[in-house]
Amino acid sequence: MTLIRSIYVFCSIVMSVLGYVSKPPEDRELTTNCYNMSLRKVPADLTPTTTTLDLSYNLLSQLQSSDFRSVSKLKVLILCHNRIQELDIKTFEFNRELRYLDLSYNRLKIVTWYSLAGLRHLDLSFNDFDSVPIHEEAGNMSHLEILGLSGAKIRKSDFQKIAHLHLNTVFLGLRSLSYYEEGSLPILNTTKLHIVLPMNTNFWVLLRDGIKTSKILEMTNIDGKSQFSSYETQQNLTLANSKTSILLLNKVDLLWDDLLLIFQFVWHTSVECFQVQHVTFGGKVYLDHNSFDYSNTAMRTIKLEHIQFRIFYIPQERVYLLFTKMDIENLTISDAQMPHMRFPNYPTRFKHLNFADNILTDDLFKQPIQLPHLKTLILKGNKLETLSLVSFFANNTSLKHLDLSQNLLQYENDENCFWPETLITMNLSSNKFADSVFRCLPRSIQILDLNNNKIQTVPKEIIHLKSLRELNLAFNFLTDLPGCSHFRKLSILNIEMNLILSPSLDFFQSCQEVKTLNAGRNPFRCTCELRDFIHLEKYSQGMMIGWSDSYICEYPLNLKGTRLKDVHLPELSCNTALLIVTIVVIMLVLGTAMAFCCLYFDLPWYLRMLGQWTQTLQRIRKTTQEQLKRNVQFYVFISYNKHDSTWVKHELIPNLEKEENLICLHEGNFDPGKSITENIMNCIEKSCKSIFVLSPNFVQSEWCHYELYFAHQNLFHENSNYIIFILLEPIPLYCIPTRYPRLKALMEKKAYLEWPKDRRKCGLFWAKLRASINVNLLETREMCELQTFVELNEESQGSVISLIRTDCL
Ligand SMILES: *[C@@H]1O[C@H](CO)[C@@H](O)[C@H](O)[C@H]1NC(C)=O
Ligand SMILES: *[C@@H]1O[C@H](CO)[C@@H](O)[C@H](O)[C@H]1NC(C)=O
Ligand SMILES: *[C@@H]1O[C@H](CO)[C@@H](O)[C@H](O)[C@H]1NC(C)=O
Ligand SMILES: *[C@@H]1O[C@H](CO)[C@@H](O)[C@H](O)[C@H]1NC(C)=O
Ligand SMILES: *[C@@H]1O[C@H](CO)[C@@H](O)[C@H](O)[C@H]1NC(C)=O
Ligand SMILES: *[C@@H]1O[C@H](CO)[C@@H](O)[C@H](O)[C@H]1NC(C)=O
Ligand SMILES: *[C@@H]1O[C@H](CO)[C@@H](O)[C@H](O)[C@H]1NC(C)=O
Ligand SMILES: *[C@@H]1O[C@H](CO)[C@@H](O)[C@H](O)[C@H]1NC(C)=O
Repeated sequence: MTLIRSIYVFCSIVMSVLGYVSKPPEDRELTTNCYNMSLRKVPADLTPTTTTLDLSYNLLSQLQSSDFRSVSKLKVLILCHNRIQELDIKTFEFNRELRYLDLSYNRLKIVTWYSLAGLRHLDLSFNDFDSVPIHEEAGNMSHLEILGLSGAKIRKSDFQKIAHLHLNTVFLGLRSLSYYEEGSLPILNTTKLHIVLPMNTNFWVLLRDGIKTSKILEMTNIDGKSQFSSYETQQNLTLANSKTSILLLNKVDLLWDDLLLIFQFVWHTSVECFQVQHVTFGGKVYLDHNSFDYSNTAMRTIKLEHIQFRIFYIPQERVYLLFTKMDIENLTISDAQMPHMRFPNYPTRFKHLNFADNILTDDLFKQPIQLPHLKTLILKGNKLETLSLVSFFANNTSLKHLDLSQNLLQYENDENCFWPETLITMNLSSNKFADSVFRCLPRSIQILDLNNNKIQTVPKEIIHLKSLRELNLAFNFLTDLPGCSHFRKLSILNIEMNLILSPSLDFFQSCQEVKTLNAGRNPFRCTCELRDFIHLEKYSQGMMIGWSDSYICEYPLNLKGTRLKDVHLPELSCNTALLIVTIVVIMLVLGTAMAFCCLYFDLPWYLRMLGQWTQTLQRIRKTTQEQLKRNVQFYVFISYNKHDSTWVKHELIPNLEKEENLICLHEGNFDPGKSITENIMNCIEKSCKSIFVLSPNFVQSEWCHYELYFAHQNLFHENSNYIIFILLEPIPLYCIPTRYPRLKALMEKKAYLEWPKDRRKCGLFWAKLRASINVNLLETREMCELQTFVELNEESQGSVISLIRTDCL
């Protein structure tokens, strides 16, 4: 009991909320699934709102009246494949909405009827009833549409009780049939009758009564051994009151002669469509096919599907001709291992022929076949090889639809093709066609399926396929989209799974009519060439089938696996014209800037100087700091123009030397072996001070500028105070060329000592100058270390200030 309880818990409840939003909650569908759970009793704790309850494949043997009381909303109850032996339909009296009740495959022997007015589907087939369990009450179920029945004995009186019901389907699932009263079935009023035959039944009787009963008759499990051999074959070939127009025999195992007899019998009934599926036939062929009576028939369609042989020898020609001489509208013989087909040598009226999945070869077309009315020919899945042969055959027909898929077809360039102008659709998929196939196509073609072939390009010189609307080239070896110059009306193109790296622009220009394009699953190379393609999708929403999941980059490797949608290809890197324009503009701007600098800031002058300065610098770098210290020889470096030399020699130097320690003027300190720049730099570096005598002359001199520049750049004098400017004569700002911004800034800041015109002020001037030198001497002492002074003193015989006269050229 606890086990069962725990199993109940496992009964999964599936909420299938249909129309959750629009419907009120009580109308929701609730499915409770207790399928295959070894239940012995109906679970007691069913959700009351359950509408569908599946209890199939359990071990239920009894139903209690209380079992389904709680589930009053129940609409569908599935109880098939259980062990129920007795049924009282009153059990469901509280399930007023019950529409569907399946009790098939149980062990029912007794049914107590009760009129469930709402029931539409009641299945009692494959049970152990002794006779068909129909009671008067059943006749009250006026909504019944589908009724499944079984019973070992079938009598007229049973069916009489429901004769007035207009049923849709009666299903007779019989486990055994020990007695059948002839004429029972035709009492039923049903559109479709499906009988599953047990062994040892008289097939002929049931067939004859079945054909008298319903419009559609299906008979399953036809066994030649038990249902034919012990019963007399139907000799009476005429049948009055036949109703069936569609007859289906399924799972048939027969002798060929018996099958032939069935055909002959059915031929003279009302059957229009006769379908035989899953047939195995064997035995020897005794009957004379020429005796087949083709006259007086309603037959229009015969379908034989999934046929196997257990015969060693069949007279093929005669068997084929038996069918082709039937001269009906539709004939299907598929999946029948048929190696050949013969047609009578007179014109026949076949409209639709389907010989799919056989082993037909080119031999089929090597005989003249006259099928002037043929509209559809399906030869899918055979072993045909030559397309031109098919075309010759087709030329004598008015074929509209031709399916040649899954063959071994090829087309050689030198063969002629003659297609009828009636052809609209052709399925040439899964063959061995190369590019040349485009030279063997009917002009009138509208839908062409060439998928899974070996096509590499659509050739340029082909006939115009003016009507082509749909073209399938998937699973080929195309490296580009085809242009539409030869099929201007194309509106659907499928080209997925080819080798397209980047689709060319030609497609977008020539294929204006294309509404649907499937180009997915190609190895796209995500470079600039793909931009137009990606844009195409953006501007033609929904045109590309499978966008965006099927459109994935294969190259370059860093983008492999990225969806085309997510690839970013910037305008600048893709548009060559734009790129060139951008580069030219940038170059122009740079050029202009350069020209401007040269013109206004004398850039070449700076560059020249910079070059020389760095050269010197490199040379200086080689000498060590120690050596440099030793090299400091002078305290003052004076830069002046030669026009101001009188003032320098007669005013400046004497005044500086008034200090007790000041002395000597060293001239000619320039090393003739070095460049002037180098000399200047040397001097500046060997001095602790630099005095610049500024005057209009100085401004005019280029060399003086170098000196000024170097003094500013001097690496060894980090403190800028080591430069002292003396303004000898006022320099109007406009006189200073713009290329000397440093000098200009200096003049503007008035960071200089001005030589007074008034002689009386000279005393103050010299005092200031000496003061600044002194201050500076103190400050610079840390840099130009004392030892150096001492050394210098010895070397320069005690002179503290050394002067260099630089020839300001
Ligand atoms: C029922 O379940 C068992 C295992 O639990 C499985 O072997 C069996 O095939 C199932 N039957 C059906 C009809 O699903
Ligand atoms: C149901 O059938 C019984 C007997 O056949 C009959 O007396 C009764 O009137 C029927 N009920 C309805 C609702 O048709
Ligand atoms: C069978 O039912 C249909 C309606 O479904 C009706 O037209 C026909 O007359 C009935 N036939 C017989 C024999 O009762
Ligand atoms: C054959 O059918 C005819 C009516 O066409 C009938 O009179 C005769 O009894 C039938 N014979 C048999 C053996 O069923
Ligand atoms: C014959 O076959 C064609 C195509 O399969 C179908 O459209 C047509 O309805 C069939 N005709 C008959 C009478 O079954
Ligand atoms: C086409 O029909 C003509 C007669 O109309 C016949 O001579 C010719 O052999 C036929 N061709 C094929 C391929 O069946
Ligand atoms: C194809 O058919 C047309 C007309 O039906 C005929 O004129 C032409 O000669 C045929 N071609 C061949 C090769 O049979
Ligand atoms: C062509 O035949 C193949 C199978 O043989 C089928 O999958 C495909 O849908 C057919 N094409 C058309 C356009 O019917």
